[in-house]
Amino acid sequence: MNKVLVSLLLTLGITGMAHAAGDAAAGQGKAAVCGACHGADGNSPAPNFPKLAGQGERYLLKQMHDIKAGNRTVLEMTGLLTNLSDQDLADIAAYFSSQKMGVGAADPKLVARGQDIFRGGNLETGMPACTGCHSPDGSGNAAAGFPHLGGQHATYVAKQLTNFREGDRTNDGDNMIMRGIAAKLSNKDIAAVSSYIQGLH
Ligand code: HEC
Ligand code: HEC
Repeated sequence: MNKVLVSLLLTLGITGMAHAAGDAAAGQGKAAVCGACHGADGNSPAPNFPKLAGQGERYLLKQMHDIKAGNRTVLEMTGLLTNLSDQDLADIAAYFSSQKMGVGAADPKLVARGQDIFRGGNLETGMPACTGCHSPDGSGNAAAGFPHLGGQHATYVAKQLTNFREGDRTNDGDNMIMRGIAAKLSNKDIAAVSSYIQGLH
């Protein structure tokens, strides 16, 4: 092979890697502004602000790009990502991902129904169990970009499921995985499974 082509391929490969990999240490400083809502270590204290700690890097990065591009609407974050480069976003994702998500408590009255939905899905409506993609302990599948759910605030989870169902969140891809699933959840189902998720670890 021609030498120029080889060195070009090498350069492209190396730059590609440098862009893809986030640096958690650099990300900590860049994430300072995010801490006001999401908590300095990504464990947000407010039930409507999602915890980012321990969330999969790939999922975090996708959400930041979606929010920045306007493919997912988060009014509270208007303008916040505009001046951040792809490398900044990758560093921030690496930082929050390296932290540990704290776990809350489930409402004991909702556990049985929540667990049935999470682990068993719904045979009648053909809704798959959540465990298939989000794993039995709720830790998700970081490599596939399936988010970690275990310990997430119930208020936030319920809002996302409602948004998917009502078509107010549409960034789950062309297969509409989550919109299809949420369409089969009643309000009571959403309350139960969200509470179960908050206590799941
Ligand atoms: C003023 C409060 C506020 C600030 C500051 C803020 N966010 Fe958010 N962020 C939110 C809210 C609220 C949501 C969820 C909105 C919803 O219900 O869909 C969110 C969602 C997210 C999500 C999606 C989480 C998930 O589980 O899908 C990511 C990632 C995120 N923010 C990253 C950041 C980063 C990075 C910064 C700093 C550059 C930041 N946020 C600053 C309020 C804030
Ligand atoms: C076939 C795979 C699959 C199944 C089954 C599945 N999910 Fe998901 N889920 C996903 C993917 C992929 C996303 C991320 C979509 C995106 O990129 O925005 C997601 C996102 C979510 C989110 C948003 C997380 C956040 O931080 O904003 C919630 C909440 C959620 N799923 C709950 C559930 C529940 C509850 C069930 C079971 C009733 C379930 N999912 C079943 C694949 C799945």
